[in-house]
Amino acid sequence: MSDVINLVDVSVVRSGTTILGNLDWAVAEGENWVVLGPNGAGKTTVLQVAATLVHPSSGTAEVLDERIGRVDVFELRPRIGLASSALAAQVPDSERVRDVVLTSAWAVLGRWRESYDPADEQRARDLLQTWGLASLADQRFGTLSEGERKRATIARALMADPELLLLDEPAAGLDLAGREDLLRRIDDLADDDFAPTVVMVTHHVEEVPAGATHGLMLRGGRMVAAGPLEEVLTSDTISATFGLPVEVQRHGQRWSARAL
Ligand SMILES: Nc1ncnc2c1ncn2[C@@H]1O[C@H](COP(=O)(O)OP(=O)(O)OP(=O)(O)O)[C@@H](O)[C@H]1O
Ligand SMILES: [Mg+2]
Repeated sequence: MSDVINLVDVSVVRSGTTILGNLDWAVAEGENWVVLGPNGAGKTTVLQVAATLVHPSSGTAEVLDERIGRVDVFELRPRIGLASSALAAQVPDSERVRDVVLTSAWAVLGRWRESYDPADEQRARDLLQTWGLASLADQRFGTLSEGERKRATIARALMADPELLLLDEPAAGLDLAGREDLLRRIDDLADDDFAPTVVMVTHHVEEVPAGATHGLMLRGGRMVAAGPLEEVLTSDTISATFGLPVEVQRHGQRWSARAL
């Protein structure tokens, strides 16, 4: 198995502050990770390093066997799908949902004059169907509910058939039914023969999808723990990560936590 992500002693320094410190983290093919930690822990920063959007201030980062800093990131980026609220905020409100997904084939936002391959059009239709957006294909992005918006941005991230899918807080702002629906869809992704490796950021152990295999816990830009979920999703580790005593419980393939 080859590494999908391999960070060795990676630090990211901004305005003299170390926002990610000496992180060693490896994600192998076939694993699906969650990144957990409180606000400001460095989760989005780690995801941006994996997305080649942020270069480490020191240390080495390899993504899909390419070394960041040596590879042409414009060749590497189409192999990585990223969905985040920051990216969603860049989608013009007037964009039609079908085009939000389709334009990803050209790595552009906002349909202009590109012409699309019938195969791309079909893939976009399939993704809209899979992500429960078929009936909303002609609706404008700005009119979508939060849950619909999340699904549209994930469908967009999948359009280029990425090997690595990075999801930054995909369940934030969703109601219970919306959260459960989204987690099930993320879990269903793994059924595909060409399923991407998924790394998902969240604040809540309740949002860890059933198919997740590994966890990276961050606090203050430092790793608290990393490894198989059953080893790292413990009361001790989650208490240390969030800075308060909590009890973590496992329910089959899902988890919950409450303060003690
Ligand atoms: N350019 C910058 N200059 C200074 N500090 C920065 C800069 N960018 C990020 N930070 C800080 O780095 C820390 C980590 O940010 P990051 O967005 O990775 O956290 P996060 O774990 O995703 O938090 P959240 O759960 O709130 O999204 C934060 O404290 C943030 O203020
Ligand atoms: Mg964040």
